[in-house]
Amino acid sequence: MTVSRRSPRRVARRLVDRGLATLGYALVDHDPAFAHSLVDRSVALPIEARELREDNPRLEELRTQYAALDWPVCEHSLWEPERVRPWTGPPSAGWLPKLDLQYFRGDTSYVWHYRESRRASELKFFVYLEAVRRSDTGDLIGRLGEDGMFGCWSYKFPGRPRFSRDLLDSVNELLFLDEHLGVIQRPGLRVLDIGAGYGRLAHRFAQAAGGLAEYCCLDAIPTSTFLCEWYTRFRGVAPPVRVVPLPEVPALAPGEFDLACNVHAWSECTIAAIQWWMDQVARLDIPHLFVVPNEADGFQSLEADGTRRDYLAVIEAAGYRLKVERPAIADEAVRQLVPVEDRHCLFERVG
Ligand SMILES: C[S@@+](CC[C@H](N)C(=O)[O-])C[C@H]1O[C@@H](n2cnc3c(N)ncnc32)[C@H](O)[C@@H]1O
Repeated sequence: MTVSRRSPRRVARRLVDRGLATLGYALVDHDPAFAHSLVDRSVALPIEARELREDNPRLEELRTQYAALDWPVCEHSLWEPERVRPWTGPPSAGWLPKLDLQYFRGDTSYVWHYRESRRASELKFFVYLEAVRRSDTGDLIGRLGEDGMFGCWSYKFPGRPRFSRDLLDSVNELLFLDEHLGVIQRPGLRVLDIGAGYGRLAHRFAQAAGGLAEYCCLDAIPTSTFLCEWYTRFRGVAPPVRVVPLPEVPALAPGEFDLACNVHAWSECTIAAIQWWMDQVARLDIPHLFVVPNEADGFQSLEADGTRRDYLAVIEAAGYRLKVERPAIADEAVRQLVPVEDRHCLFERVG
């Protein structure tokens, strides 16, 4: 006699499925590889990715340098190392999912992806793609491209180029900046990116804007500076991209930059850190400031105790005034469906 060996989990799962079916529910499109993974490992890592290790001497050097600073910009909230935990769900409750350095373009604290079922994600990304394509008359999406490297979730639909959230957000930001400041064709443009992450926008900006003279990336988190140095070099965009470690920021000189960017960073910083950065932006005499907050309304910092403070007054006191504020996606239906609540905010210096 043969005895079938069924695991208790599988039996329980089948009973739950049957119970749900009697109520008229069925689990559709369940893809464990998609639902339970932060990264897409389907694209092989390049050989150089072996350098992306926690004990890389450059990363250790940056950690030592940053730890020695007692500047207000180092008063962190969300980005404190002790807030890093293994992934257990969306990082909404004031903590960061642990980062696998080699897969830094997966679903990480740098760029979130939409992690419903694969089908739901595909539908949402298709809607988002079509919304950006409507304004992308120069086909930046196709020209800049996406290879899915370093764990990045990417999508490919018939008749459309392969794309990712990294690519769509970046193209959308570039199109906004191009409309208001003419950045793509402008010769000699010099950009400063505060809280540049792994260099997402730096890479895309350098790909899109042939006349870019300099794109300077800054951050107050050593892992971000390390990844940004490594990634922009790997992509062959350094120069014009230059990554300046935090201790060297005070040595940057006034008049060196035309545009400062802060994309999804100040909403995760304390007001003390934002004040420090705005002192730098004012000192450097940068004519324009582009901010993309996380929140749907206002400009909110994140303090160590979880409270939020309005940082618009800090920007204004530094001599800047909000000139343009627009939802990142014009179509309200698309904004609700995806959902994307990002706003593109352009400030100009008035003082
Ligand atoms: C959500 S990520 C956004 C990264 C990048 N701007 C992008 O849009 O891809 C937030 C960034 O803020 C940076 N950050 C955290 N605390 C900071 C601080 N005090 N000053 C500057 N950047 C900070 C992090 O290192 C990270 O790069």
